[in-house]
Amino acid sequence: MPLMEPYRIKVVEPIPITTPEDRHRWLAATGYNQFSLRSEQVTIDLLTDSGTGALSAAQQAVAAGADETYAGASSYYRFREVVSDLTGYNYIQPVHQGRAAERILFGSVLRPGMISVSNTHFDTTRANVELLGCVALDLPCEEAADLDSAEPFKGNIDLARLRQVLAGPDRPRIGQVLMTITNNGGGGQPVSMANIEAASRLCREHGVPFFLDAARFAENAWWVTQREPGYADWTPRQVAQRAFALADGCVASLKKDGIVHMGGLVAVNDPELAEQCEMLCIATEGFRTYGGLAGRDLEMLAQGLIEVTDPLYLRARADATRYLGSLAKAAGVSIVEPAGIHAIYLNAKRLLPHLTASQFPGHALACELYLQGGIRCVELGSLYLGTLNERGELQSGPPFELVRLAVPRRVYTQSHLEYVGEVLAQIAKHPERVPGYRMTHVPKLLRHFNCRLERMG
Ligand code: F0G
Repeated sequence: MPLMEPYRIKVVEPIPITTPEDRHRWLAATGYNQFSLRSEQVTIDLLTDSGTGALSAAQQAVAAGADETYAGASSYYRFREVVSDLTGYNYIQPVHQGRAAERILFGSVLRPGMISVSNTHFDTTRANVELLGCVALDLPCEEAADLDSAEPFKGNIDLARLRQVLAGPDRPRIGQVLMTITNNGGGGQPVSMANIEAASRLCREHGVPFFLDAARFAENAWWVTQREPGYADWTPRQVAQRAFALADGCVASLKKDGIVHMGGLVAVNDPELAEQCEMLCIATEGFRTYGGLAGRDLEMLAQGLIEVTDPLYLRARADATRYLGSLAKAAGVSIVEPAGIHAIYLNAKRLLPHLTASQFPGHALACELYLQGGIRCVELGSLYLGTLNERGELQSGPPFELVRLAVPRRVYTQSHLEYVGEVLAQIAKHPERVPGYRMTHVPKLLRHFNCRLERMG
């Protein structure tokens, strides 16, 4: 089978073609914060793969026939049927997006002072744990620390440490174990079925609820079929079904592998927990048969959740992202190995050794991609994860300075990716010319969304 997308384009949208002068002016006006750019100012938007996918003709068709009834809409039952077949869970609650699912599930499971353990909590996930007065403990596997190693499942949880924590003095405080598949906070790396199975078994032994953060469940399943011994003959859907069966429930942002613009999910087996979640959902999201979504969203989700496990679609997506990774490497820019499926993560520290962590090298590279090519992406380094004082000076930085290029689903073609590769090559020709940044406005909360910076050269 040749490498190509198993679909063709029926509807197109122009993308803005801008000049370097415009981009310099626009980015300076935002205080060098790409979250404050307007979409008309962005040529290739790799900020996120969340809610940015292209709909299929089949999704649009079912949306047109959706039932917008408040209670008991047929669109809800279609959604429930598809999710039930996929996950096997008894209680299935749509919500408007992933973080709503987190608030509802964690609010029903955790009590102040408890600990949530994960391979890596995504940032909103961590925030929802901490808002409940709890502690979010990340236990990524050791292989994840080596950005260059080609280990196949660097998203795994560290089982030895999980066992230690579950058998240790903190056991009574552990409210849940949450496995994020794929591990977005950890370079977009997948989690093996062996790791999910072992974590599930440990949780059962110690009587701790085990949940999945299943935002990219199909992409994780794809890697399992490709990389894990014993799964070569499984379909991605079968792998996903097995992963769900190993957990007591899940939260999911369906803006990713639901291939829709808005949607999320809480699903559990325990009837008491389900009742608690339903109460919170009705009070804060919407009635149980819509949970903050329109009937058309539920219909498109039901269809998207079927399309997303198509092996041809997943292969094309994995190939596209790997191709982008190979372009980056050919340009001389290291990435977190192996390339993920929803994103590649550039190693900014290695490309810009002349910048110290306090000059925000990840942010500097992200800005350069915009200034030189109109490409928007996000830094995962000292700006986002570092500890800063009130003057915006770095006190302690994270171990890595990464830049995430997230690939929206079914949106960009090979030539768009080649364009990104060319811009990277242009930057990598003279990396020493990329200046550092200094923070001029330091918000107390949600710093990376609202901070302002200035160029130091
Ligand atoms: N969990 C994971 C693993 C995520 O990647 C996200 C969102 C969420 C939960 C929260 O879901 O946005 O629907 O409320 N990730 C986006 C990203 C924002 O760009 O990676 P949400």
